Amino acid sequence: MISLIVAATENNAIGKDNKMLFHIKEDLLFFKNTTINKTIIMGRKTFESLPNVLPSRKHMVLTRDKEYKIDNSQVEIRHSLDEVLEEIKSSNEENFIIGGEEIYKQVLEKNLANKIYITRIYKTVEDADTFFPEIDEEKYKIIDKKILNKDAEVFVYENILK
Ligand SMILES: NC(=O)c1ccc[n+]([C@@H]2O[C@H](COP(=O)([O-])OP(=O)(O)OC[C@H]3O[C@@H](n4cnc5c(N)ncnc54)[C@H](OP(=O)(O)O)[C@@H]3O)[C@@H](O)[C@H]2O)c1
Repeated sequence: MISLIVAATENNAIGKDNKMLFHIKEDLLFFKNTTINKTIIMGRKTFESLPNVLPSRKHMVLTRDKEYKIDNSQVEIRHSLDEVLEEIKSSNEENFIIGGEEIYKQVLEKNLANKIYITRIYKTVEDADTFFPEIDEEKYKIIDKKILNKDAEVFVYENILK
């Protein structure tokens, strides 16, 4: 099973200069609680933006660079998104695509995500350089929501076409 998890502003901004736009403690805790003990899949740029390897999660990092290596037993490198999706799509475990824009776009285009967890941050950032794609509401329906604080709310969408 494949889920996407993201925090985006009202205009779908997610990052700038390879950094997150916000560090909202309730959202960081939600991310941790949701992904703990699971596999997290990310693009090389998102991996490099992390302050460190996240505890108790297997990391799969996508890069086209065959020389790219990370010396950490929690981190596995993959060179093709199709290979990763093939590996995880039949697993009963929830596997999390954690970004960034390039990876979210490709996974949504292939219609392979079962769920989307989006933390909506009730702000607009005009000068962001990375964005989450518009959610296709014909395909994804809200099945749960949770207010994190006055500026942030989680919406869980399920893919009804899968
Ligand atoms: N708000 C949030 O929830 C959130 C979550 C995650 C990230 N972000 C933000 O998003 C930004 C990064 O996003 P991004 O779109 O620039 O980069 P990204 O998606 O994290 O990484 C892109 C890199 O992934 C590799 N890649 C992409 N598609 C691939 C494929 N099909 N096969 C193999 N490798 C592939 C390439 O690495 P190589 O160049 O090494 O080949 C590519 O340069 C940062 O600002 C980050 O903070 C925000």
